[in-house]
Amino acid sequence: MPHMTFFFLSLVLFLAVGNALSQWIDYPDNGLATMTHYTLPSGYVASCGCTPASTDYPTAALSQMAYGSSTNYGPACGRCFNLTLLNPVIATPPFFPSVVKSIVVKVTDLCPLSETGWCSGTTTMPNSAGAYLNFDLAYPSKAIPDDFFPSDEALYGYTDFGVWNITYQSVPCLDSWAGSNNAAALGSVKALESSACCPADPTPGNASNICPSYSEKNGIPPDTSTSDSRCRMDVLIPALNLTLLAGLLLLLI
Ligand SMILES: *[C@@H]1O[C@H](CO)[C@@H](O)[C@H](O)[C@H]1NC(C)=O
Ligand SMILES: *[C@@H]1O[C@H](CO)[C@@H](O)[C@H](O)[C@H]1NC(C)=O
Ligand SMILES: *[C@@H]1O[C@H](CO)[C@@H](O)[C@H](O)[C@H]1NC(C)=O
Ligand SMILES: *[C@@H]1O[C@H](CO)[C@@H](O)[C@H](O)[C@H]1NC(C)=O
Repeated sequence: MPHMTFFFLSLVLFLAVGNALSQWIDYPDNGLATMTHYTLPSGYVASCGCTPASTDYPTAALSQMAYGSSTNYGPACGRCFNLTLLNPVIATPPFFPSVVKSIVVKVTDLCPLSETGWCSGTTTMPNSAGAYLNFDLAYPSKAIPDDFFPSDEALYGYTDFGVWNITYQSVPCLDSWAGSNNAAALGSVKALESSACCPADPTPGNASNICPSYSEKNGIPPDTSTSDSRCRMDVLIPALNLTLLAGLLLLLI
């Protein structure tokens, strides 16, 4: 079984260098971060394996070293955060919105680590806006008004500043997250079995309802590739049992 040989070699390699690589960020419950946005198709099952209906409500991907895994699920999966916009990172002249906008998101996805880019924060180096965490909001979304991000088109000539400085606040999902009363939007996709983890109301510090790190559990070191490209299927597929994935795709069609 050449695959088994490869697996054990990988495991040995991981044990040798893994400790140095998987220094996840132990972030406080409140702090500064940045926010970007990305396209998440409605009904898409992202890295945590949360149900398709979770996309009917505000969700976000979290930067890898805070998410806590390089593949599939991690300790951030299912957690809810109240994100408040401060000001765009890139705006000339600087832009300070006259209204304060907040949104409560549930983390359902991984924003892969890259050397540059907004999800590049590690324990020792923040991203180029000085933030260790980046929340990548699924937006546009039917769950979020199209004018959620403040803008001044007359002055800047465009409405999308792209990256915002924000504050984040860890909040309980129950009551705070818009999807918390819809059972279909909670939990993980059953067919994915142990490749998914999406607690309805995780409470940080309670090991019984916080997801473990999938990559640590399976000896997969963080992906430290330099490309900033976001190839989500690459992230999702390797660890899935392909039989189950095929079944899932049939269900979704
Ligand atoms: C926001 O972004 C600017 C530009 O990168 C940066 O100088 C500033 O320190 C950031 N933080 C806050 C809280 O505004
Ligand atoms: C989110 O934060 C804003 C700004 O601090 C606050 O006004 C709002 O009540 C908070 N929402 C929740 C659900 O905590
Ligand atoms: C930890 O989580 C479990 C499962 O959700 C729950 O039954 C238990 O009461 C929680 N313990 C604390 C101290 O929050
Ligand atoms: C995938 O899962 C199915 C059903 O649990 C099992 O029959 C099959 O052997 C698995 N395939 C692999 C490659 O592990």
